Amino acid sequence: MCSPIQELDELRKNLPTTFIAGPRLRRNVATVSIVGLGPVGLTTAVAFATQGHQVTGIDIDERRRSEVARGEPPFYEKGLEGGLKRALRQKRLKIVDRMEDALRASTIVFLCVGTPSKPDGSMDDGPLRDATKSVANAWRDGKARTLVVKSTVLPGTVESVVRPVLEAAGVPFRIAVNPEFLREGRALEDALRPDRIVLGVDRPGTARILRALYRSVRSPVLVTDVRTAESVKYATNALLASKVSLANELANLCDYFGVEYDEVLRGVALDPRINAQFLVPGVGFGGSCFPKDVRALVAAGTANGYRPELFEAVLALNDRQYGRAIALLEKELGDLAGRRIALLGLAFKGNTDDVRESRAVPIARDLVARGAMVVGYDPAAMDGFSKLVPDVRRAKSVEEALKGADGCILQADWPAFSRLTAKDFVKLMASPVVVDGRRILDPKKMKGVRFHRIG
Ligand SMILES: NC(=O)c1ccc[n+]([C@@H]2O[C@H](COP(=O)([O-])OP(=O)(O)OC[C@H]3O[C@@H](n4cnc5c(N)ncnc54)[C@H](O)[C@@H]3O)[C@@H](O)[C@H]2O)c1
Repeated sequence: MCSPIQELDELRKNLPTTFIAGPRLRRNVATVSIVGLGPVGLTTAVAFATQGHQVTGIDIDERRRSEVARGEPPFYEKGLEGGLKRALRQKRLKIVDRMEDALRASTIVFLCVGTPSKPDGSMDDGPLRDATKSVANAWRDGKARTLVVKSTVLPGTVESVVRPVLEAAGVPFRIAVNPEFLREGRALEDALRPDRIVLGVDRPGTARILRALYRSVRSPVLVTDVRTAESVKYATNALLASKVSLANELANLCDYFGVEYDEVLRGVALDPRINAQFLVPGVGFGGSCFPKDVRALVAAGTANGYRPELFEAVLALNDRQYGRAIALLEKELGDLAGRRIALLGLAFKGNTDDVRESRAVPIARDLVARGAMVVGYDPAAMDGFSKLVPDVRRAKSVEEALKGADGCILQADWPAFSRLTAKDFVKLMASPVVVDGRRILDPKKMKGVRFHRIG
């Protein structure tokens, strides 16, 4: 891995210079507070600071605040550490303990707190409600400011949760929803150069304020009402999750028909109506967004008298898809009890240390339940994963994980894994049985390996 500053420089090299703060922007500096310094909030804070705005970061988690204030992101994201250190050094970003002062001093406040699933799958609006209360308490001086919800919230949430809190406090406010579309693993790049900016606003003046904030970003801007912007985010995640399950369904059928999925997709993708992106089959989707957001849609639809059966099926298929990787191992090795299995990639995908809803979790638990000895390796997610599945042995390298293994499942698409060769597997493993759960290796180059992919 290169140094944080090298990573940031590499990332900036690939961006048009207009995205980086220049003298022109200084006249339009906004004073922004970011509430919640998770992957979304911290990336947003660093991106706004990089664009020349004056940013204050707020979080209820004291440990997180002090890590970020020292220039240490609490999670791994390419380029983020360099960007954070630079923003702190240039005093464009500061992290505060006293939330109220910062909220009062800002003209625009972004809420980037989590919206996790409740046990029944519905969206938990508790953190959003609490954060809005903090804002309302700080804004009692009569000055009108803009509150922007960046968290993913169900259509109607701003009207039913956020607005009533501000109105009850009697504070003047403008309100907007600005959903975030960044992809973990390339979060800063996406925040600096989003494919679109969606602004759901309560009135035209709010759109003008936010357009000015984003003026250095050359991306298409869509201005809508609040509820539409809330819906765009859910529709996006539901569609992307559905594409993954659709690809898995087709690939599973290809297995039964004995045809090669890739060839089928090649033919399908020639149809101009079908975009082949995200139609890669494997062990299913995970992460902090797709599963929880599709579950929240299903719960909200059902509670309102409409049962979204398609999305229920998307989730159900995803829940069991990891089992196909285990079935492929079993086909080669028979009973897995006592077998040593290397699990490569513990985060929900490559280039991140986020293990939330990672497919590595059910895979590991299932293998352990069958009596296998699982040796896991991930370049960034070892600690987070060990907390979830302590029974998995920790390897310090890919080589250590593969050494003496009877089988291997590739679960995340880290670049280091895609450089593995047939020779590596044959040399290191007791029996070279490999299931590529992310389609990152070329089967044609896997001579001597009992190599499998789904589809
Ligand atoms: N992670 C992603 O890739 C991604 C992408 C797009 C959208 N989103 C959405 O953005 C939102 C945030 O996602 P995340 O992954 O960054 O969340 P997260 O849960 O990882 O981080 C949220 C942060 O907010 C802090 N927080 C909670 N309540 C607070 C309060 N009252 N005051 C101050 N701080 C508070 C927490 O301590 C935490 O540090 C979610 O709604 C998520 O669905 C996430």
